[in-house]
Parts: sequence; C-alpha cells; structure tokens
Amino acid sequence: MSWDPEKYLKFRGERTRPSVDLVGRIVAEDPATVIDLGCGPGNSTAVLRGRWPGASITGLDSDPAMLRAALRSDPYMNWMQGDVASWHADGAFDVVYSNAVLQWVPDHAELIPRLFRAVAPGGALAFQIPTRVDSAIYADIDEVANDPRWRAATEAARNALVDHEPAFYYDLLCTKAERLDVWTTEYQHALDGPEAVLDWMRSTRLRPFLDALPDEADRRAFEAALLGRIAAAFPRRPDGKVLFPFRRLFVIAYRGRD
Ligand SMILES: C[S@@+](CC[C@H](N)C(=O)[O-])C[C@H]1O[C@@H](n2cnc3c(N)ncnc32)[C@H](O)[C@@H]1O
Repeated sequence: MSWDPEKYLKFRGERTRPSVDLVGRIVAEDPATVIDLGCGPGNSTAVLRGRWPGASITGLDSDPAMLRAALRSDPYMNWMQGDVASWHADGAFDVVYSNAVLQWVPDHAELIPRLFRAVAPGGALAFQIPTRVDSAIYADIDEVANDPRWRAATEAARNALVDHEPAFYYDLLCTKAERLDVWTTEYQHALDGPEAVLDWMRSTRLRPFLDALPDEADRRAFEAALLGRIAAAFPRRPDGKVLFPFRRLFVIAYRGRD
C-alpha cells in the first residue's frame, strides 16, 4: 500500500492537531533524542521540533513518497526508511513518539512492549491512534464493504486496522511504566460537506478498500454508496458545513529511572 503525501496533507490542520495535543502532554523538559515512528510527510516531526528545538530528532517511515515529502519539509532532520513492525532501536530514545501510525501495524501485544523497551530511563513512549469505538464513519465503511458485491474482495481491508480498548494498553504497560496517561478525545472537525469527509477517508482508512476493488467502476460505486451514508450520518449545519466526529486514543507511558 503506498501513500500520497499531497492528498494526506489536504487536511493538514485537522490531521496535525492530535500530534500537537499529544506532544503538549508529554512531561519531558529537555530530551536529547526523539524518534517519530511513521513520520509521514514530516508534519508530526515538525511539531516535535517546535517543542524541543535542541533535540536530535529522527523521523522514520516505510513509505518512500512520504519520506521524500518529509525531506522537502526539512532537509536538516534525520530521515530514515524503516518498518515499525520489525524496528528494533539502536540504543534508547528519550522520547519514542508515534502519531496516527500504529493502527496499521499488527500485534500490539508484541509491538507496544517492544517500543517501550526503546525508551531510555526517565523517558516516555507516546502514541495516538484512531479508535473505531462508536465511530459512525468506520461503521459506514464496514457496512458498504459488507455488500455482497464487495465482501470477498475487501475482507483483508476490513481487518487491516488494529483496534483495542484503552484498557488493553493500560494492562500492557501498567506494570512496566512508572506512570501512565491514557485518554480519548473526540474531535469535531467542521468540513466543507459530505464529499470532504469522503475525501478525508480516501487518503487513509479507505485506501486498502479501494485498492482491493477489482476496477474503477467498482471503486466509483463503492464511493457513491459510502457518500450516501455519509450525507445521512453528517447533515449540513446552518453554515453549509458538516461536523465530522473523529475519536482518537492517546497513551503516554513513562519509564522510571531504574
Ligand atoms: C496517517 S500517516 C501519519 C503521519 C504523521 N505521523 C502524522 O501525524 O500526520 C501514517 C504514516 O505511517 C506510515 N506507516 C504505516 N505503516 C508503517 C510501518 N509499518 N512502518 C513505518 N511507517 C509506517 C505511513 O507510511 C504513513 O506515512
């Protein structure tokens, strides 16, 4: 699955907001080393740079187009190609950070403790992932994908995103971390209309579904069916916009000084 930085950054403000909220909550005065796992086009890495201008910050991503965009955004940062699914830290980082990425990486029971082991004493693991709980848009996508025309082709896509309750992450980390901060936030994004909601999803959650469909006619029919549901679920407000709710889960786990 390849990514399109331009389409992804169409909603730059909305997409970067959770990374600002996450970085703002990390209690770390002056970390020397920070890594942004799944840095994308560099938008989340820029937020880290803004908070800790003196830190050595590395952005890691598996997608070459995203890394090229990241390099254009800041030629002086350390950018690295790598896969979080198999990443093992070379040394430890004061902040291991990941915004809107880990939902694409399987087996969190193995992954999350591994990422926590990459945190230096006194440092923090901080990540944010979207959550499907009570999400109208994810339910709509699943229902459209369940249509007999598309059910078989989209089966893998339906299972592509990892989704656990907050308590799953609490249980994984509570005996390892000195302190744990777990919360959810539901953003209410005011977008230009139902088409904008579809457009938002096109560059993230919808991509594995659209990639799995056999041809352009199916993709168009799939999107049209979804757009109908979006229009019904998110009616226009008096200013013509729609309010698009998007719930996200945040976790910060602090390592003791040992
Ligand atoms: C939704 S974007 C998030 C970008 C940025 N962190 C942000 O806050 O907007 C997800 C990024 O995760 C990357 N990604 C997905 N799976 C990955 C993996 N297994 N290893 C490394 N990067 C991955 C994608 O290439 C993409 O750039």
